[in-house]
Amino acid sequence: MLELINVDVSLNGDHGKIDILKNINLKLDNKKIYVMTGPNGGGKSSIAKVIMGIFTPTNGKILLDGVDIAQKSITERAQMGVGYAFQQPPRFKGLKVHELLELSAGKTHTCNTCNLLYDVGLCAQDYMDREIDTTFSGGELKRVEIASILARDLKVALFDEPEAGIDLWSFQRLTETFENMNRNTDTTIVIISHQERILRLADEVIMIADGTVSEITSQEKVLSAIEQFDKNCRCSADCEREGYRNVNFG
Ligand SMILES: Nc1ncnc2c1ncn2[C@@H]1O[C@H](COP(=O)(O)OP(=O)(O)OP(=O)(O)O)[C@@H](O)[C@H]1O
Ligand SMILES: [Mg+2]
Repeated sequence: MLELINVDVSLNGDHGKIDILKNINLKLDNKKIYVMTGPNGGGKSSIAKVIMGIFTPTNGKILLDGVDIAQKSITERAQMGVGYAFQQPPRFKGLKVHELLELSAGKTHTCNTCNLLYDVGLCAQDYMDREIDTTFSGGELKRVEIASILARDLKVALFDEPEAGIDLWSFQRLTETFENMNRNTDTTIVIISHQERILRLADEVIMIADGTVSEITSQEKVLSAIEQFDKNCRCSADCEREGYRNVNFG
C-alpha cells in the first residue's frame, strides 16, 4: 500500500517560492487502478513526481508498505518497486529498444520483449533493434517507455497520460494491457488521464485541482457528470452580434 500523508511540495521559481502541491492525502491499495484526472496545471504530474522522488516533499510522509520513502532518491524508490512513465519521456540515447526493455526487467526477470512491444502496439521485428534516438516519434517513444514500465515487477506503476500521441488501435491494446496487469499482478496502478476509456478502468477516480485533491470519487459519478455537462452545454456565443456570421472569407 502507498500512502501520502499531508504532502506539500514547494519549488523555487523565478519570482520566489511556488506551492505546487498542498496537503495531499491519499491511500492507494494494492491491486487497484486509480485514475487521476482534473484540469491542466492542477498538479497531477507533480503528484507522480513526488511519489517517484523527482520532487522531494517540503512536508509530509510517503509510506510504501509502511516505510517512509519521502527522503529517498529516485534510484532507491525504483529499487523498492516504484516506476513512472513520464508525460514527456526522455530519450535514452545510445540504447536499443530491446536493451532498454531487458535493463528494465532486470536480471532476475525473464523478459519477453516481443510480447511487451505487442502490448503497446509495436511490432517487435521493426523495433527491437532500433536505437532510441531522435528518429523516434513522440508516440513511438511513449509506447517504448510504457513497455519499459510493463517489463518491471512493480509495487506502484504510474502512467502519465499514456494515451497522448497514441493511435486508436494501439490505445485499445493499451487499455487491455492495463486490465491484464491489474488481473495478473498486485501492482497499484495509477493512470493520469483525461480519457473516458481510461476512466472506465478505474476502481477510484482522484480529482486533482489547484495543487490538491479536490475529490475522490467513482467512475460512474464522473462519467454521469460528463454526460450531464454534454446535455446542458449549449453554445451561448452571439455570433451575429459579434459579426462572425455570414462573413465571407473568400
Ligand atoms: N519544475 C517546475 N517549476 C515550476 N513550476 C512547476 C514545475 N513543475 C510544475 N510546475 C507548476 O506546477 C503546477 C502543476 O503542474 P503539473 O505539471 O503537475 O500539472 P498537471 O496537472 O500535470 O497538468 P497537465 O494536465 O497539463 O499535464 C503548474 O502550475 C506548473 O506550472
Ligand atoms: Mg501533467
